[in-house]
Amino acid sequence: MRVLLAGATGLVGAQVLQRLLADPRCTAVLAPTRRALLVNHARLCNPVVDFEQLPLQSQDWQVDAAICALGSTMKQAGSRQAFHRIDHDYPLAIANAVHAHGCKVFALNSAAGANPDAWVFYSRVKGELERDLRAVGFASLTLVRPGLIGGERAEHRAGEQFASKVLGALGPVLPRAWRINPASSIAAALVEAALAPRPGVRVIGPAALV
Ligand SMILES: NC(=O)c1ccc[n+]([C@@H]2O[C@H](COP(=O)([O-])OP(=O)(O)OC[C@H]3O[C@@H](n4cnc5c(N)ncnc54)[C@H](OP(=O)(O)O)[C@@H]3O)[C@@H](O)[C@H]2O)c1
Repeated sequence: MRVLLAGATGLVGAQVLQRLLADPRCTAVLAPTRRALLVNHARLCNPVVDFEQLPLQSQDWQVDAAICALGSTMKQAGSRQAFHRIDHDYPLAIANAVHAHGCKVFALNSAAGANPDAWVFYSRVKGELERDLRAVGFASLTLVRPGLIGGERAEHRAGEQFASKVLGALGPVLPRAWRINPASSIAAALVEAALAPRPGVRVIGPAALV
């Protein structure tokens, strides 16, 4: 299968990429990024693109499945408008483009609590994206909803690091849905959703990602 991956430089995306390149079911990976990947592989195509001007008409977008682990934080994005553009508009544009080129399978790294009517802005944006992806018409759509993602980041995120320490210490006594979700578990769920697609819409919550 030819798979498109958005967000390959991220914590989850990098693990998705590693898994795809190691999996014989995946014959090629198209991974558009805004900065070049440090990975070289015969089955990897890594165009460096401006996500404001994605080459959506290119035949490169003919893939069998797409995985999106692209997203920002309110701090990185700088404003609600910019966050909505990155976390909603970019993934939706990619989904529409691959679908228009015949792709039937899409897997999204969303977030626990995603809800288009949520009071919290972050959860609302994730929910709006899920709602709009459902309307695109994929034969198989998987919405993976982690809680706090666990893994090594170069970037300092004080709130996440504090939460990670607390949840990490309490881990064994916490209900599964409240535990840290390792990036590797999320990546595994996304890759299976892409390479062994099930028909319809499937939501995978945090309890299934520990
Ligand atoms: N952090 C958490 O605990 C948590 C919990 C639940 C859900 N999530 C969601 O899970 C997803 C993946 O999380 P993660 O921790 O793997 O994310 P991450 O490490 O921050 O990686 C995000 C990816 O999105 C790309 N990206 C961000 N802004 C971009 C822009 N303006 N243009 C193009 N690409 C851009 C990044 O590219 P660059 O490397 O070029 O920046 C990177 O490839 C995100 O959607 C996030 O909201 C996170």
